[in-house]
Amino acid sequence: MRIFLVGNGGREHCLAWKLKNSANDVEIFSPSKNAGIQSIANFVSIDEKNYEEISKFCLERRIDLVVVGPEDPLANGIADFLRAKGIPVFGPSRLAARIESSKSFAKEFMRRNGIPTAQFSSFTIEQFNDAVDFINSLHPPIVVKADGLAAGKGVVVCQTREEAIKVVKQMFSGEFAEAGKKVVIEEFLEGEEASVLAITDGENYVLLPTSQDHKRIFDGDLGKNTGGMGAYSPTPLINRPALEQIENEIIRPAIVGMANEGYPFVGCLYAGLMVKDNRAKVVEFNCRFGDPETQAVLPLVKGDFASLLLSAANGKLNKDYYQGNESKFSCCVILASKGYPDEYQKGFEITGIELAESLGCVVFHSGTLKVDNKLVSNGGRVLGVVALGDTLQEAIQKSYDGVDKIHFENKYFRKDIGAKGLKYV
Ligand code: AMP
Ligand code: GLY
Repeated sequence: MRIFLVGNGGREHCLAWKLKNSANDVEIFSPSKNAGIQSIANFVSIDEKNYEEISKFCLERRIDLVVVGPEDPLANGIADFLRAKGIPVFGPSRLAARIESSKSFAKEFMRRNGIPTAQFSSFTIEQFNDAVDFINSLHPPIVVKADGLAAGKGVVVCQTREEAIKVVKQMFSGEFAEAGKKVVIEEFLEGEEASVLAITDGENYVLLPTSQDHKRIFDGDLGKNTGGMGAYSPTPLINRPALEQIENEIIRPAIVGMANEGYPFVGCLYAGLMVKDNRAKVVEFNCRFGDPETQAVLPLVKGDFASLLLSAANGKLNKDYYQGNESKFSCCVILASKGYPDEYQKGFEITGIELAESLGCVVFHSGTLKVDNKLVSNGGRVLGVVALGDTLQEAIQKSYDGVDKIHFENKYFRKDIGAKGLKYV
C-alpha cells in the first residue's frame, strides 16, 4: 500500500511509524523535512499547500491513500479536492471539518443533536450588546472563544464579567482576524479533561484507547496553554461506565448527526472532554488525531492500522484490522525548547536518541531537522519520548529514563506527565 502523508509534527511522525509497521508492503511518501518522518518516508519535493501538485503526484505514483494529520488543510478542503480526483483520503471534508474549524457550528451541532456540552450562545460583531447582556446573565468564570481556528490561542477563561467583556471587545477588534469575527461565550465546566479518538468511515467507528493531555507549560497544570506537553494512555479517569456514556451520548450521536445532516465525518473524530463524577461533557471536537495524544495512543494499538484507515477512507470500516492492547499503559513526555510557547531558539544539536531507544523507548520527532548529517531542534516542541509499561507508573518511569538520555541545549520538559492518572489507580 502506498500512502501519502500530510503534516510535519510529532503526530505525523507517529502516524508514519504506525502505518509503516502495519504490513510489509506499506510505503510512505511525505513532503515533510521533519527528520523523524524522513527516516521512514520517501521524501517528495512538493509544496504541501498546493493540492493540485499533491493530486498530480498521487495519481502519477498510484497512491492508494492520503492521510491528513493537521486541521488546517482539512478546514481548507484538501479532502474534497483529492476525493474529487478519485484519490481515497483519510480525513473529513471541509463541511465535516467545521466541527473543529467553527466553534459556533460545533456548539450548535451539539445542541441540535443533544450532545452534552457547556451552555453557550454565539454572537457576531453586530451583536456586541447582546453578548454583554449574555455575559451579565452568567456566573464567572466565563469562557470566551474566537469562532475560527486560532492555533489554540482563541480561548480565554475569564474570572470576572468585566474581563469577559474586555476579551469579547478584543476579539471583535481584529486580534484573531477572521477567526474572531464571531465569538462563542459559554459557562465554565468543572472537572478534569481527557480525550477520546474514534476512527470512522462516517457511519461505523472504533474507539482508540482513552488518553489525557497536559496542555499547560509548567508542572501542576500551571502557566500558558501549549500544543501539549505530554500525554498518557489509557486514562483511569474514564472508567467503564464513563466510557459507555461517552460512546452513547457523544461519539455515536456525533457520527450519526454529521451523516444525517449531510456531511458524514470520515477520519479521526477527536472528542475533548471534561469529566466529572464519571460523566463527560464535550469541551471541543477536533477533526483529526490529537498531538501529543496520538504518540501515546498509537503505540498501544495493534493490528493493521494502514488497512484500517484505508477501509474507513473507502467508506467500509473493517474493524477486524483494529486490535487494542488492553493490558498496557503508555506515556509520552514532550521535550521542548526553553521559552516555548513564547520565544525560543532553534538549531541545537540533539544527542542520545539511540540510548533512549536502547532502553525500549520510541522517540517521535515534533520539530527536528537534519543539517550536515547532524540532528538539530527545529521547533518549540522538539521530541516526544514514549514508553509502554504493565502499569501507568512503569510507563512513566521508563519514558523519563529515556528523557534523561537525550540532550540538547535549552531542553525543557514537564516532570509530572501521567501523575494525574496515578491518583485513580
Ligand atoms: P478549546 O480550544 O475549546 O479546547 O479550549 C482550550 C482549553 O480551554 C480547553 O482545553 C480547556 O482547558 C479550556 N476550556 C475551554 N472551554 C471550557 C469550558 N467551557 N469550561 C472549562 N474550561 C474550558
Ligand atoms: N492535544 C490537543 C490537540 O491536539 O488539539
